[in-house]
Amino acid sequence: QNDAALQEEKAAAPSYPMPRVCPVDPPPQLAALRAGRAASRVTLWDGSEVWLVTSHAGARAVLGDRRFTAVTSAPGFPMLTPTSKLVRAAPHTASFIRMDDPDHSRLRSMLTRDFLARKAEEMRPVLREFLDEMLAELVAGERPVDLVAGLTTPVPSRVITLLFGVSDDSRDFIESRSAILIDRGYTPDQVAAARDELDGFLRELVESRVAGPGTDLVSRLVIDQVRPGTLSVEELVPMCRLLLVAGHGTTTSQASLSLLSLATDPGLADALTKDEGLLPKAVEELLRFHSIVQNGLARAATEDVQLDDVTIRAGEGVVLSLSAGNRDERVFPSPDTLDPHRDARRHLAFGHGIHQCLGQWLAKVEIEEMLAAVLRWMPGVRLAVPFEELDFRHEVSSYGLGALPVTW
Ligand code: HEM
Repeated sequence: QNDAALQEEKAAAPSYPMPRVCPVDPPPQLAALRAGRAASRVTLWDGSEVWLVTSHAGARAVLGDRRFTAVTSAPGFPMLTPTSKLVRAAPHTASFIRMDDPDHSRLRSMLTRDFLARKAEEMRPVLREFLDEMLAELVAGERPVDLVAGLTTPVPSRVITLLFGVSDDSRDFIESRSAILIDRGYTPDQVAAARDELDGFLRELVESRVAGPGTDLVSRLVIDQVRPGTLSVEELVPMCRLLLVAGHGTTTSQASLSLLSLATDPGLADALTKDEGLLPKAVEELLRFHSIVQNGLARAATEDVQLDDVTIRAGEGVVLSLSAGNRDERVFPSPDTLDPHRDARRHLAFGHGIHQCLGQWLAKVEIEEMLAAVLRWMPGVRLAVPFEELDFRHEVSSYGLGALPVTW
């Protein structure tokens, strides 16, 4: 009987995250949960239970509600991975993605003008030039070409080094350390060590800009904020780390999966070859479809909140599944079909509310330009290995591919 009770309890709060069945679709259990109550109980790796929200409306409601906090040390905050505890243990290393307003908006607002859509557009010609250089080199070499190593990893890191005004030689260091920060395969100690090394590098960078500013983003923050005393060096270092980590692996993953769709979905390749103007729309749809922040976003309730038929109590944790919300048929009819003609702009891939992705315009320009470059240089691009052999990265917080071997 005990066993039966245990089974019942387990079924009532299944383990989260659930395994995928098809590598490009979210776990099917999420769709089943979405058909039920506004939130369901799930069990995390450490045995703790939290609420899981799987609908589009529910995710927007929670992310837009100030009664839910993004501060990791708040009571009940979901620890999605063993390394989530690190942030809690070292609050001084937290960046504004883990703060509530007014602290959050004080820091975020210092960056808004650098990440406007207009600013991202200014990056486009620069990107196009170096993409043409990279692709010319790739197509001149041997086939197959791995688009992850050759394209989707170096491009976002090159964009960040351009923004920060650091030399290209630092890219290997930045790429390797930020990859560790988002991979569940590393121990908390390894992650803490990578974070400290990255912070050491960024502290030196900030100090060099304090000594002699240039024209890059870090120098601008030193001149406009550090010198007048509105931002401390201790705050600027985690801010730089946030930009680096949030803007790097995510863009690599989303670009890799978008290119996988291009190489495997003839409808998408045809539509984009016929009409390049469709690219921005297709990129929104690819963001919806792949939803690379695969385990979703974590919050905790600071007050009792009624979410339709569920009461979330103060001190309880909530996980918002962006991938489930992005496959919600009430908002996106035939949600499991990738349709580049669909207006997918209401997707949740960049989150929602005060923390909605600051770098979304930049990310979209990068992905559009990577897809356009592959269409230009590798007409008829297709997988060079059977789909079943692809290395999907299940352990990384931004779902992606270890390699994408293609030919054309
Ligand atoms: C926040 C996704 C690219 C910088 C977020 C959030 C998501 C997200 C879901 C919300 C987190 C939360 O509410 O807890 C993505 C995806 C990307 C991408 C899918 C690529 C396809 C970038 C880029 C940058 C960037 C290129 C900058 C260089 C940020 C920052 C935040 C953020 C600074 C924190 C915003 C805040 O707390 O106010 N991103 N991101 N992201 N992202 Fe992105």
